[in-house]
Amino acid sequence: MYLNTIMLWMRSLLSCWVLMLSGSALAAFSGQHIAEQGGTHAGATACNSCHGADGGGNDAAGFPRLAGLNAVYLQRQLHAYREGTKRNQLMAGIASALTDQEIEAVTAYFAGLTPTSHAKAPVGIPLGPGKQLVEHGDWLGRGLPGCNQCHGPGGLGVGEAFPPLAGQPAKYISDQITAWKSGLRSNDPIGLMKHIAVLLNDDEVKSVAAFYASLPLSVTRSSSETKNIASEAPKEKAKVNDVHTKPLPHHGDAREGAAAGPKGYFQPPVRNAYPEGPFGDMVRQGEAIFVNTYDHPLASKYVGNKQSCEGCHLDAGRLANSSPMWASWVAYPAYRKKNKMVNTMIERTQGCFKYSMNAQGSKAGHPPSAESNTIVSLISYFYWLATGAPTGDQHMAGRGYPRLTETPKGFDPKRGEALYAEKCSVCHGADGGGQMSQGKVVYPQLWGPDSYNWGAGMHKVDVAAAYIKWNMPLGLASPTQTKGYLSDQEAWDVAAFMNSHERPQDPRYTGSITETVEKFHKSKYDYYGKLRGTDGKLLGEDVPIK
Ligand code: HEC
Ligand code: HEC
Ligand code: HEC
Ligand code: HEC
Repeated sequence: MYLNTIMLWMRSLLSCWVLMLSGSALAAFSGQHIAEQGGTHAGATACNSCHGADGGGNDAAGFPRLAGLNAVYLQRQLHAYREGTKRNQLMAGIASALTDQEIEAVTAYFAGLTPTSHAKAPVGIPLGPGKQLVEHGDWLGRGLPGCNQCHGPGGLGVGEAFPPLAGQPAKYISDQITAWKSGLRSNDPIGLMKHIAVLLNDDEVKSVAAFYASLPLSVTRSSSETKNIASEAPKEKAKVNDVHTKPLPHHGDAREGAAAGPKGYFQPPVRNAYPEGPFGDMVRQGEAIFVNTYDHPLASKYVGNKQSCEGCHLDAGRLANSSPMWASWVAYPAYRKKNKMVNTMIERTQGCFKYSMNAQGSKAGHPPSAESNTIVSLISYFYWLATGAPTGDQHMAGRGYPRLTETPKGFDPKRGEALYAEKCSVCHGADGGGQMSQGKVVYPQLWGPDSYNWGAGMHKVDVAAAYIKWNMPLGLASPTQTKGYLSDQEAWDVAAFMNSHERPQDPRYTGSITETVEKFHKSKYDYYGKLRGTDGKLLGEDVPIK
């Protein structure tokens, strides 16, 4: 009896001790030891001798910083050096000399360090072209997303798959891109980086590498979001009549020949070449709202999920075949079957808030009013994008998402499931929940409470298939070159899978699922009220409007 108690007591003491050791304490201890002294096997040289005592890397030698990088990402790299999918003699030897446990411990150690960098931009290399590529890419010319669309705000990385580039030595960055081009590195998920690397020329690689080397290890809110933001109140009260009592100012001549560009599509004005004065400020603000709607100081109160207009209208609404705003501007007012009315561009935009942005669930509880600063800025931006476009042309090349014809096999969420896991989840998450970095959505949520609602155009399988075919996976598909990455069949199936999940209620919900289906969801491309979720309920059933 007495002995038993002692045994129990000792057992629990022992397990406490083992727990402590096998937890982070042991990992940190031996990880630090490996970093400072090397591993147990010969050849596992102390990491710090090259990567720096603080893990901040070595700029001149081009040894990358490891401090603060994601542990899983670092592990994958070490395994890649071992396996030869990332080729480097030094690191191949070192990684092969580490045991799996040592790899786990040392990567946890570096991931836990404060992010640190000693990188500096090399002198004499212009940073401008690199900055442009990092922030905006070259969608129209090459189907190239901005680097930060994958590497996150400030180039500080996203989750396990997308490493930070800010503060990496320029030499390391350009070496890596060269390695992808020549096939020496091939460990990237679904070939994302290889695809990007081959689109860059040597000067661009130098500039982009120098730009990233110059970036700080934290982000501040961009000035376009915080500057020039007129407060909402006075505008709401503005007298609409003013417009008609004052003489019209002369705005000068229209821009010359905004005809089809090299790819056969209309070309909006050059980015950043905003008009002067208060109108230019409004255009700039409209652009800032478009790319960051849910988190913009003016517009966020009308957004009930975590969506931005740009999520579905790529390249800030500029891109042909990604439903560009310039093609849309010239096509309204127009009759829409959706609400059986002639809609102006303002109403069309308010409709986007109602459905794609789920305004019912927002702080305001409704879409922005026609006079609100949010709408006025968005409309100003669209008008400017359409400078020189033919008003009244309903069929500009590149309008909307070009629809796919149906395949003989039809579409099937079950077939789409495996495809989603393979080609989409690295960014949008296995559960469709998207990913954030630095407090910003980088990969939007595709279903669930922060996604578009059951009334949005994207909830229909045919619309989603068309969008996905030309725009996803980001970077691999190229809407302006109409070069899809997925086959039509795959696009249909993955769209069906995506849209067979629950999302916010259709704001037109009548209180009865059968009635709502009857009125708005009879299309065969629509799973609302037809499929059952894991809880046994029909999609959309008993979901409140909010
Ligand atoms: C002799 C110098 C040297 C030592 C010692 C060294 N490294 Fe490296 N490490 C490098 C170089 C050079 C690279 C870049 C190789 C390339 O171009 O792929 C690198 C790259 C890496 C990367 C890839 C980082 C990224 O962002 O993808 C990881 C991870 C890494 N090293 C971990 C370690 C660990 C852990 C140790 C200690 C066990 C270590 N290294 C020791 C030189 C070294
Ligand atoms: C479509 C998404 C995507 C875009 C856009 C993208 N990258 Fe990447 N990048 C990745 C992924 C994924 C990895 C990680 C690869 C791996 O796991 O080995 C990566 C890794 C890298 C690395 C290696 C970092 C390291 O620590 O080893 C460099 C350098 C890089 N990218 C540069 C760029 C540059 C420059 C651009 C813009 C011109 C860019 N990337 C745009 C997806 C992208
Ligand atoms: C979840 C995806 C999604 C989001 C987010 C989204 N839209 Fe759309 N938008 C669509 C779809 C789908 C269409 C229909 C395109 C088609 O039928 O080819 C569309 C169409 C439009 C059109 C009409 C295009 C035309 O040529 O007639 C405008 C204007 C528009 N959206 C503006 C916006 C604005 C402004 C926002 C942000 C407040 C926004 N959208 C957010 C998916 C989205
Ligand atoms: C490399 C990362 C990446 C991959 C892989 C990827 N996406 Fe995306 N996806 C994005 C980004 C980023 C956006 C937002 C685009 C923007 O803001 O410019 C997006 C937007 C979307 C949207 C618009 C919805 C919304 O709410 O904004 C849909 C739908 C979508 N993706 C579906 C898919 C599907 C289906 C796949 C797989 C076939 C896929 N994506 C693969 C990065 C990715």
